[in-house]
Amino acid sequence: MSEQLFKVTIDNITVEVPAGTTILNAARKIGGEVAPPAMCYYSKLQGSGGKCRTCLVEVAKGSEKDPRPMPKLVASCRTTVMDGMEVKNITSDRVLDARAGVVEFLLLNHPLDCPICDQAGECHLQDLSYEHGKVGTRYEFQRRTFKKHDLGKYIQLHMTRCILCYRCVFTADQLTQKREHGVLDRGDHAEIATHIEKSLENDFIGNVIDVCPVGALTDKTFRFKNRVWFTKPVDAHRNCDKCCGEVQLWMRGDEVFRVTARKDEWGEIKDASNGKTGWICNDCRFEKKKASDWVIDGPSKVSRHSVISQGHYEKLVKPKETVVDVMNGSQPHLFLDIHDVSEVNKPTVTLSALDRPAHSTDFGNQ
Ligand code: SF4
Ligand code: FES
Repeated sequence: MSEQLFKVTIDNITVEVPAGTTILNAARKIGGEVAPPAMCYYSKLQGSGGKCRTCLVEVAKGSEKDPRPMPKLVASCRTTVMDGMEVKNITSDRVLDARAGVVEFLLLNHPLDCPICDQAGECHLQDLSYEHGKVGTRYEFQRRTFKKHDLGKYIQLHMTRCILCYRCVFTADQLTQKREHGVLDRGDHAEIATHIEKSLENDFIGNVIDVCPVGALTDKTFRFKNRVWFTKPVDAHRNCDKCCGEVQLWMRGDEVFRVTARKDEWGEIKDASNGKTGWICNDCRFEKKKASDWVIDGPSKVSRHSVISQGHYEKLVKPKETVVDVMNGSQPHLFLDIHDVSEVNKPTVTLSALDRPAHSTDFGNQ
């Protein structure tokens, strides 16, 4: 029997999707800004969604049969499309206003520690605040503080940064044999914690780092070692008997700083070449930190809007000559060669020929 298709119009663009598709996934089919942001929904995790409310949309027409609009904004990750439905996302002032409110709520207790947070540069909350946040806060109370929990030898929890999206809980539940952490307490006291401080030592538990949309769960083998935008992501693989072995290496020169699963355009873990979700094991993630452990497939595709793309060198771009610009069109009379007076940046090193950021070892061998 052929699949029943429903027509849905989102921000004036019509798509056909199978019955049972959520508004969020229909919008993702259109792509770009039409797709609402999602901080808790994760297509690879059953039961995810419905927690953060960032994906709210306005349903201006319920369906062809019942065209009445829905009175309240709805969570697009939890609402399925109807035939003839009309949805407004970025074309609705109500949605943009509500989203700004949701971001303000998410940031109530979130510390402004982006300058020292390892997630900076790839943080979904940072992107969301940039697009929908306000400059100041109206919150007048003390932010929440927590007792520190140590989540084993590989993972560090910063509970102050957690937005309680439950993604890590679903990951541990659905990917490992034994779940040892969850959300304890409720409301303002709710927190991610391991029961009686047990460490999470499952082979696949490192994946909680990849699903965490903020910097609440970080990789202890990478913490404070580098900023993500100074590292270059490359796709690589190895034969692994536990997982697909298909990863992204975050490198600087020949040094592997971090290993993560490969991500798609929505920031979710991509499917591997075997068709299954590309979850990776702890061995690949934490123990294989030498370039010789891997077969490099090539540079990863990075969104050009991402801050990571600023330091991402897929091809050499010759810098624009700016001297004439800053001198209002006049040519300079005299150039001073800095090397006459300084040992800095030795002229024998041609920085513009490097296909990556320069680092100290480029100068060390001179
Ligand atoms: S630790 Fe991260 S993944 Fe887990 S609930 Fe908090 S924000 Fe979500
Ligand atoms: S993504 Fe829909 S409620 Fe969080």
